[in-house]
Amino acid sequence: MAALETLFTRYSHPKLTDPAPGANELRDLFRAAMRAPDHALLRPWRFLTVRGEARARLGLLMEAAAREEEADLTDARAQKLRNAPLRAPLLVVAYARVQEHPKVPEVEQLLATGAAVENFLVAAHALGYGAMWRTGAIAYNRTLHRLLGLEPCDRIVAFVYVGTPVNDMAAQKATLDAAPEQHVREWG
Ligand SMILES: Cc1cc2nc3c(=O)[nH]c(=O)nc-3n(C[C@H](O)[C@H](O)[C@H](O)COP(=O)(O)O)c2cc1C
Repeated sequence: MAALETLFTRYSHPKLTDPAPGANELRDLFRAAMRAPDHALLRPWRFLTVRGEARARLGLLMEAAAREEEADLTDARAQKLRNAPLRAPLLVVAYARVQEHPKVPEVEQLLATGAAVENFLVAAHALGYGAMWRTGAIAYNRTLHRLLGLEPCDRIVAFVYVGTPVNDMAAQKATLDAAPEQHVREWG
């Protein structure tokens, strides 16, 4: 796919199924992620890939973490969290390993990691896969960070769901394609 056409037609896919990208394709998606801009070349981005039966175990950790930190957790929300990672054949947990730096504040390290996630999404689309960036309160749940073995300086930026799109989203999303001029003005 031509580069601009790929950018113009990336949509999120809430419904995903098998197959997920194979090992070589996944490597290319991460190569694309690593090409994100990155102040002082800190390489703050980290990724966990979760597949197969591990997805169910992650769901259990999400539920346990929510039980720890959400006093008002309902059964419906507990079940939703438990099943969340099963929404796609591959889940990528993207997080930033934030470090103290005299010129690069935390926000820039989070932005660089977000840019890496976007590169990953666009590259997945270029290879014919679908993906969706999700977060929710569980992304910021410190108990989940601990259960995943993350460090206190780590910040989850995205749960990226990846697989083969069930639906063609193009027609549905066409109305979202706001005219750029609504967001852009010349200054000065
Ligand atoms: C930081 C971030 C977090 C997001 N979290 C969620 C989420 O938890 N649930 C959700 O439905 N969409 C979430 N989205 C939005 C979707 O990824 C998607 O962008 C949105 O549905 C618009 O669809 P489009 O990507 O096809 O334009 C998030 C997007 C970003 C950038």
